[in-house]
Amino acid sequence: MPGGDEIRDVQRATWAGLSAGWEKWDSVIMDQLGPVSAAIIERLNIAADQQHLDVAAGTGEPGLTVARLAPGGHAVLTDLAAEMLDIATRRADAQGITNFETKVCSADDLPFGDATFDSISVRFGYMFFPDVARATAEFARVLKPGGRLCSSVWVKPEENPWTTIAMQAIAAEAVLAPPGPDGPNMFRCAAPGYVSALYQAAGLRDVAEWDVETELVTRSPAQYWEMISEHVSLAVAALQQVGEPARERIAKAVIAKVSPYEQDGEVRIPGVARCIVGTK
Ligand SMILES: C[S@@+](CC[C@H](N)C(=O)[O-])C[C@H]1O[C@@H](n2cnc3c(N)ncnc32)[C@H](O)[C@@H]1O
Repeated sequence: MPGGDEIRDVQRATWAGLSAGWEKWDSVIMDQLGPVSAAIIERLNIAADQQHLDVAAGTGEPGLTVARLAPGGHAVLTDLAAEMLDIATRRADAQGITNFETKVCSADDLPFGDATFDSISVRFGYMFFPDVARATAEFARVLKPGGRLCSSVWVKPEENPWTTIAMQAIAAEAVLAPPGPDGPNMFRCAAPGYVSALYQAAGLRDVAEWDVETELVTRSPAQYWEMISEHVSLAVAALQQVGEPARERIAKAVIAKVSPYEQDGEVRIPGVARCIVGTK
């Protein structure tokens, strides 16, 4: 089992490498994950002067939306990968959002004082943290009393064909190292109650979790494959291990499996996320 420093180094390099794909496919990703942002933000009770922290903010969501909803407030966007936060800054500039700052740091070692923030969001970050309990304790520490934490994770693979279709086709051609039970991977936090238990152990109250449906929409099966192969960490890593003939076979298999989801000039593939809210 790799140690925390090694996990952080690998994650930092992985997401730096994925950042170009995330920028290229920004609008498709934002549409897919939009319902999750809406669910998180609804539970955070954002006031006009909200002081908000977005952890593992990546390209900026939901932190930038919170900044827009709190014109007299301020959002701090944090992430391990500076390259992802650079995209967040470009997205903010394009939208004219100025009441935010970015900070490169790890979720389990936050450079903020106790009781600094009214709210914290963590959209699809938890599964990559080296120590999820330590990260949750950090969130509880920097929240003001009465402040809220809301995060999201993916539920089990069977309910997320938007990614498993591609992963199954890749697994037929490449050796995918099975993830360690506590190592970073997309479905590490999928078990019902997993994140709630972390919140409770960190002393949060009124903890609740609920599922949110998502849909990945692309113009064609080929575009689906292009997008997944350029921004999903496991897909990008696995494709680097195989040669061009295997890549072509994977693409063909993925496109065949995705075709049944095509209707009226669009491919719509479902997924399910879980949101978890708690109060300090
Ligand atoms: C799936 S992306 C989510 C980005 C964004 N929140 C969103 O939903 O679009 C996961 C992010 O977690 C970040 N990350 C991974 N490990 C981290 C850590 N230990 N601390 C902070 N961020 C981390 C990655 O750099 C990446 O930007």
